[in-house]
Amino acid sequence: MNPGLAAWKVKPDDFPGKGTPAEKLAFLVNYAVLAPSKYNSQPWLFEICGGSLDLICDRNPAFQVTDPACRESIVSCGAALMNLRMAAEYFGYATIIEYFPWTGNDNLLARIRLNAARTNGAEHNGFGWKAPERGRFPSANQPEYEPSQDELFLAMTRRSTVRHAFWPGTPPETVLVACCNAAARNGAWLQIIKDGPTQEAIADLVARGDRERLADTGYRRELAAWIHSARAGCKVGLQGSVYGLEGPLDLLTPGFSLLLQKVNLGRLIAARDRERARRAPVLFILGTAEDTPRAWLAAGQALESVLLLATAAGLRASCLSQPASVNHLRKELLQTIQGAGFPQIMVRVGYGDPTRHTPRRPAPEVSI
Ligand SMILES: Cc1cc2nc3c(=O)[nH]c(=O)nc-3n(C[C@H](O)[C@H](O)[C@H](O)COP(=O)(O)O)c2cc1C
Repeated sequence: MNPGLAAWKVKPDDFPGKGTPAEKLAFLVNYAVLAPSKYNSQPWLFEICGGSLDLICDRNPAFQVTDPACRESIVSCGAALMNLRMAAEYFGYATIIEYFPWTGNDNLLARIRLNAARTNGAEHNGFGWKAPERGRFPSANQPEYEPSQDELFLAMTRRSTVRHAFWPGTPPETVLVACCNAAARNGAWLQIIKDGPTQEAIADLVARGDRERLADTGYRRELAAWIHSARAGCKVGLQGSVYGLEGPLDLLTPGFSLLLQKVNLGRLIAARDRERARRAPVLFILGTAEDTPRAWLAAGQALESVLLLATAAGLRASCLSQPASVNHLRKELLQTIQGAGFPQIMVRVGYGDPTRHTPRRPAPEVSI
């Protein structure tokens, strides 16, 4: 077994209920590391400072072309923060979060303390803006799916990115309403796309994103560096299964990684991703009013809260970052959905078979 899979076996019974705040926070990091991240890069570090925990963005030099501003790394850190908050809630603690506590240091994203009383996260999101009352779609009058705290907690260890084709069947409106509201509570907006022409137009943007990004040799070099054979035992990065190299085919992963680096496979990958976007029962476009590190951190928290809700409701999801990562396509995406602000990520959602978990660096390896 890949040693990086042990992180998924975290046991709630091991929570140090009688420990110090520092010990409790250190335990919660076990849940933070299960969050999704760009290329499974896990760009987070945690540091205990007295009775608080600092979340630090581990800026990776391997993202100079793919994510020069670290936008997606900070989105990933936001997802880790949401897991940490959810886990704290499950163990009976609200969190008090100071965002960007050192002016001028954009790597120190948040300082987290535990408060003994549970609260509604919306009032304590700490972003200093009032979350919109409701998401943008569907209508505000519809009932909302409300999973229990326990179900959301369980969803953290159940969630995984599912890239294969979904079964037929659209998620219920009640779940979609809940996802919109979860995004809004965390300082983001969520637009749900399930009408044919808009979805087709977005699928075209996804394909163009793939073609444009993969035409760049620097982009290909950075992407290829994250792709490893499952046998290599790496705790970060993508496995060949992302490109269909599963089981015995995994042996081909190192060769595929080299091929991807040397040859522009943009047309092939674009065709695959276009179909994924076209055939998804629904697409979520998640965005923010601003395009700052604070907004990216909010987007990550919103993303993970939406993914956990969807998982609790029995749904599967995978991210498609292309149209939000290429500047001119991002603008076109906004026009296509007639939105305002800044799309941060797109998610395809539906019912389907689960996939295996991907490896993680365990909490001690990301704690400094
Ligand atoms: C900011 C961000 C961008 C992502 N972009 C993509 C993407 O474009 N395509 C994709 O298949 N997965 C994407 N993912 C999903 C990651 O690849 C996935 O979370 C990671 O490999 C870990 O796997 P897991 O989610 O199954 O735990 C993205 C995730 C995040 C947080």
